[in-house]
Amino acid sequence: MIAVEKLTKKFGGHLVLDNITETIHAGEKIAIIGPSGSGKSTFLRCLNLLEQPTGGRIIFDGTDITGKGVDINKIRQQMGMVFQHFNLFPHLSILDNITLAPIQLKLMEKEEACEEALRLLRIVNLQEKADAYPGQLSGGQKQRIAIVRSLALKPKMMLFDEPTSALDPEMVGEVLEVMKGLADEGMTMAVVTHEMGFAREVATRVFFVDEGHILEQGTPVEVFEHPKHARTKEFLSKVL
Ligand SMILES: Nc1ncnc2c1ncn2[C@@H]1O[C@H](COP(=O)(O)OP(=O)(O)OP(=O)(O)O)[C@@H](O)[C@H]1O
Ligand SMILES: [Mg+2]
Repeated sequence: MIAVEKLTKKFGGHLVLDNITETIHAGEKIAIIGPSGSGKSTFLRCLNLLEQPTGGRIIFDGTDITGKGVDINKIRQQMGMVFQHFNLFPHLSILDNITLAPIQLKLMEKEEACEEALRLLRIVNLQEKADAYPGQLSGGQKQRIAIVRSLALKPKMMLFDEPTSALDPEMVGEVLEVMKGLADEGMTMAVVTHEMGFAREVATRVFFVDEGHILEQGTPVEVFEHPKHARTKEFLSKVL
């Protein structure tokens, strides 16, 4: 699905991603864990070119998206991204928030976009909120809408950057449930998360990122039960 070749990213003189080569296959669920400042968000943001890599290539679904003449907006449609903060348009209803992009991008007629939005809202159990405004929703509800809004573009892959870390604890579960459902349906996912329970349960592979490297990776059992590197052990001892 996505091949990262010798990816580097510098901010000024500061090397944040150091020569990362990695492949994520269709259907994989990657949990990305690691200390604050290690480069997890930057890695994720480079995947869909929200950050321009300093060096290296990213091949998405057969296309070198770091090459010249690539329509990056088209690529981003196919790679949904959900952040810590939901970025819903406060002046638009939930239904309009979800259907805005598919209609503007002419992927669907209005009627079809609305039907699809309602179908997705039923999946996340928020169909009754279609005509509400973001300000009338809880944080967990808003984040479920943000996920639906990405899914409305029928992405091939979803990127999540700490989607639950701004939520009140009692709302974390409902968002993780939606993400589990997506994983079960076969969505390819890369998730930066501090939710180690989710990473253990849902991830097919875990990347431990440290100082701009994927220092260690493996199945959840390998990384959580049998970490090889001292840095991984130290990190896990703080978060588990
Ligand atoms: N736009 C930017 N300009 C300059 N430096 C940046 C920028 N974005 C990130 N950095 C730096 O790059 C490094 C990696 O940041 P990044 O946000 O990727 O870390 P992270 O692993 O996601 O951390 P956290 O767990 O706190 O979210 C940090 O030292 C950060 O200060
Ligand atoms: Mg981050």
